[in-house]
Amino acid sequence: MKFYVTTPIYYVNDVPHIGHAYTTVAADVIARYKRAKGYDVFFLTGTDEHGQKIEKSAKEKGLSPKELADKVVVNFKKLWEKFNISYDHFIRTTDDYHERCVQEIFEKLYKQGDIYLGEYEGWYCTPCESFWSKSQLIDEKFCPDCRREVERVKEESYFFRLSKYQDALLKFYEENPDFVKPKTRMNEIISFVKQGLNDISISRTTFRWGIPVPFDPKHVIYVWFDALFNYISGIGYGYDHEKFKKFWPADLHIIGKDILRFHAIYWPAFLMAAGFELPKRVFAHGWWTVEGRKMSKSLRNVVEPNRLVDTYGVDAVRYFLMREVPFGLDGDFSHKALAHRINGDLANDLGNLLFRMVTMTIKYCGSKVPQPTDKRDKELEELALRVVEDVDRFMNEQAFHKALERIWELIRAANKYIDVKAPWALAKENKKEELNNVLYNLLETMRLVGVLIYPFMPEKSAELLEQLGITKQPAKEDFTWGLLEPGVEVKKGKPLFPKVDEKKIAEEIEKEITETEKEPSEKEPLISIDDFAKVKIIVAKVVDAERVPKTDKLLKLTIDTGSETRTVVAGIGAQYSPDELKGKKVLYLANLEPKKLRGIMSQGMILAADDGKKIYLPTLPEDVPVGARIR
Ligand code: MSP
Repeated sequence: MKFYVTTPIYYVNDVPHIGHAYTTVAADVIARYKRAKGYDVFFLTGTDEHGQKIEKSAKEKGLSPKELADKVVVNFKKLWEKFNISYDHFIRTTDDYHERCVQEIFEKLYKQGDIYLGEYEGWYCTPCESFWSKSQLIDEKFCPDCRREVERVKEESYFFRLSKYQDALLKFYEENPDFVKPKTRMNEIISFVKQGLNDISISRTTFRWGIPVPFDPKHVIYVWFDALFNYISGIGYGYDHEKFKKFWPADLHIIGKDILRFHAIYWPAFLMAAGFELPKRVFAHGWWTVEGRKMSKSLRNVVEPNRLVDTYGVDAVRYFLMREVPFGLDGDFSHKALAHRINGDLANDLGNLLFRMVTMTIKYCGSKVPQPTDKRDKELEELALRVVEDVDRFMNEQAFHKALERIWELIRAANKYIDVKAPWALAKENKKEELNNVLYNLLETMRLVGVLIYPFMPEKSAELLEQLGITKQPAKEDFTWGLLEPGVEVKKGKPLFPKVDEKKIAEEIEKEITETEKEPSEKEPLISIDDFAKVKIIVAKVVDAERVPKTDKLLKLTIDTGSETRTVVAGIGAQYSPDELKGKKVLYLANLEPKKLRGIMSQGMILAADDGKKIYLPTLPEDVPVGARIR
């Protein structure tokens, strides 16, 4: 039996962050579980290295795109080592076998008519080299990135006939309702496709960093067409037929919810066109916020994955990521919550249990696993077997949090069992047979817990099992009751999970965040002359003015910019009356994003001095022409 699992391939214009770690840990958990269950697993991860974004980011750093990629790949690989990620292959989209695969498929689809040459028409910003749709533009003519004026451009482009696959996709979703998980996401995809699919542009001529279209090299292949095919080139398509045949189709693509459309619509359509089987499942997980806030660049430091592992240990972090938030939903990463899980679930419930077990075995049984008898009770055994079954079901549904919840039910039951059976009392009363039975039940439960936590916490699983005298990595035959061999020596190890100071951690992080948030206002950021060039301030003339009803300060001004008439809502009504303003020349910020104020669309802003108490409009010379620019 085989199992093929993938992560998205990560863009190399970014350093690895907690979002990347999340997807990759989830894929590792399922890969390890399936391997332990006897599957022949292939686990693929890697990096997405082409495209305009990478080209731009490399240029800013004074590197070639490949140099940038080579650097960032090292960061990813180091981090995955630190997280004990057991991938089988790390693919880079600049690898030659991948480039060949993409070109071959592109050409095949072109020859069979699924790709055709057309014209891509849109609003283009030359400095940013970006196409925008009309709705993205500011004032219907300015680039949303740099605010310069865009132009209507037609560019030759290859298109993929996505529209042709609309019905086939809908049929596929109907026949495979579990293709996308969670279910709500499947429904979103279905309604999106039902609204109708347009053909998509899959080549560009405006930049160079990409795989060239083989028969027309002035075009480079669109980065998503390139990237998605990593899932087949990474397992040997075009160079290792046996491997490819064995592992394709993928059993599970794990991705974030933001890239679901690419995986649930484009990807199956590309595959149908190319004549491949379709993947069995795409699971879209949610997004993390950090300490209750959206993950900004500066907040990322607070949850930088290397730092988390150094502070708390790799398995505690892996556990937290998989336990804290139901897989598929959004969640919040907070140090306080992590510390709480470490002290509660890990140190108290699990660590203490192991410690008590081993200590009692040493004390009452001469350090040896005792021999149970037929008279032993089956309470823990029955629960443990049910848990093993449930965990299997939850793992196959990617409900990692539920699997862990269930394992912890077993752990808590074992803790309770000790208190109820009180082995120390049995020892005192010299009830040897019952004592042996109770301790055996507990030790065997511990062994099964060690096996079940293995995919989530491989290092801690090994430490736990070692204390029970087991050095073998969990395998298929270990997921059952009664394997612990009487007579085997147990060993006391170091505490499985040292406790952390929750209060201190919470305070330190709070302080760090407050400082991060203060920074921009305290250190006034400098802007470049190019930044200033984006600001369009001109002389304008007020032609009409009236008060905005039910406000003290707001005036609705009609102004002449020299080329058109515009409406501006200005907060200068406390000092200036409408009559005073009519005919007055003012400084006007012309390319500010329009905004609705009190139901009026305000286009731009009137500039005035503000000392916190009063507003002062600057006086301009009589003869200054309307439309003159301030530079
Ligand atoms: N290169 C594409 C994927 C191509 S796959 C054929 C890409 N790369 S990415 O580096 O931008 O993102 C990779 C993954 O990180 C995505 O699955 C995304 O959802 C995930 N995350 C990025 N930020 C995240 C959070 N704040 N929280 C959780 N995951 C997030 O997209």
